Amino acid sequence: MQTSQKTTTISVAQGDGIGSEIMQAVLDIFAAARVPLEYEHIEMGKSIFDAGFSTGMTAQAKASIERNGILFKGPMETPKGSGVKSINVTARKTWSTYANKRVFRTLNGVDTVFSRANIPINLTIVRENIEDTYGGIEHMLTHDVALCRRFITRPGSLQLMRYAFEMAKRKGSKRVTCAHKANIMKITDGLFLECFREVAKDYPELRADDVIVDDLAMKLVSRPDLFDVVILPNLQGDIISDLCAGLVGGLGFAPSANIGDHISIFEAVHGTAPDIAGKGIANPTALLLSGCMMLRHLHLGESAVLIENALFASLEAGAHTADFGAPGTPALTTQAFAEVIKTHLGSKPKIVPPASFEPANDTISLPKVPARNRMMSTEAPASEIMGADFFIESTDQASLIADTLAEVCGNRYKISTISNRGTQVWPEGSVFTELINQYRVRFEKIDSGTIHQADIVALIKETSEFFKICSVELLMAYAGKKAYSMAQGQ
Ligand code: NAI
Repeated sequence: MQTSQKTTTISVAQGDGIGSEIMQAVLDIFAAARVPLEYEHIEMGKSIFDAGFSTGMTAQAKASIERNGILFKGPMETPKGSGVKSINVTARKTWSTYANKRVFRTLNGVDTVFSRANIPINLTIVRENIEDTYGGIEHMLTHDVALCRRFITRPGSLQLMRYAFEMAKRKGSKRVTCAHKANIMKITDGLFLECFREVAKDYPELRADDVIVDDLAMKLVSRPDLFDVVILPNLQGDIISDLCAGLVGGLGFAPSANIGDHISIFEAVHGTAPDIAGKGIANPTALLLSGCMMLRHLHLGESAVLIENALFASLEAGAHTADFGAPGTPALTTQAFAEVIKTHLGSKPKIVPPASFEPANDTISLPKVPARNRMMSTEAPASEIMGADFFIESTDQASLIADTLAEVCGNRYKISTISNRGTQVWPEGSVFTELINQYRVRFEKIDSGTIHQADIVALIKETSEFFKICSVELLMAYAGKKAYSMAQGQ
């Protein structure tokens, strides 16, 4: 069936739980479709954690992925409570797969409230995949206070936006929407939105708009057909994409691609499904569709179309595993479902439009090993230190803290605000605001002189004579514009 496509080698990790069952089904379908791929089977996940590798992968597995540039993986379990980091997140971050693309579309034969209402869904979620709270940088600042740092970066956001707009243009999308919470997180989500707007200018043919993420959640469950490509920061994207999986029939139908400039990872959105593992009843559709995303990425669009059409035709014929489909017709095992798809290779669906692909005009190459880690900085305007926020541990009232630190201020700084859990409690505030044993004290400079880091270090030293300092953030201004948020009520 396949004649003109070049053979490519990829790394394959079957994963844990239902991983081996669904991966076998998918590779069987690939073999029947004569997909021109060769596989290097590698081990990652639970067995490797259990063998004492804290990253969940061996050096050989890492070398294989870095050589081939493509990892096709089944779901993997991260041992709970052991302190080790998720192998899935580690893999996405280590290889800079900055864009997580997830496609959610109505599949004929998959009964949902929207299919019954004849509302077709074809949504692509592009989730930022590296930054945000997924930096996993967390600390207890006091015994009562936990902090998770949330990074949104300009180069990372620009990289993501470029990918999303290029992808949207290539696939003929009409609308690209940025979802965010910039009304609350004005600096972090504000930067994300700023990068979206900057890149959107280069794509005037695409309608670019934005929506607050909670509004998006409401709109998606009422009119999902109004959206096309939606870009989100990492955590919001994680939540919204599971919501979208629900819209099209559940996790068994949600494929995903983790796209990087050198290495890309293709996997289903769902996990290891321990409740059904080993029973041979898991639905391989999400992994199969992820595989088809991979084939398109590798410019093997002919193979992707052949398999997608076989899947759509099988679904139209009523084939289903236990997690979906008409209750009156018997549920097929994973392997039997795969067999039905194999027999439909060469068929086209009659109800839904057949799959198609645009021949690529660029070439796919193996990852080039960079000489060093790439630094992705943008040109910064003139910057100035305006002061610092000190996060201190104290059970005192804020007025006492202000009085105590007045002498530290001297004639260089003023304390402009003291807040508790982000709400201003001094100089103005409400006695009804309940307190936790950690305050933020904002020192801002009052003269026009330049403040150096060494001045802040001196300020830390003086303040530490009165309070335990949990952490310090510099207050920066760029091109004369303050780059820090106000306290609530300030
Ligand atoms: P899950 O996605 O494994 O299961 C949720 C529910 O969906 C279960 O009832 C399961 O039976 C069902 N389900 C999932 N995939 C299915 C399929 N292909 N066919 C039929 N039913 C399916 O989520 P859960 O239970 O929260 O996580 C289990 C494990 O998976 C955890 O160790 C988690 O860390 C891991 N996980 C791994 C991911 C990855 O490798 N990318 C992603 C999500 C979770």
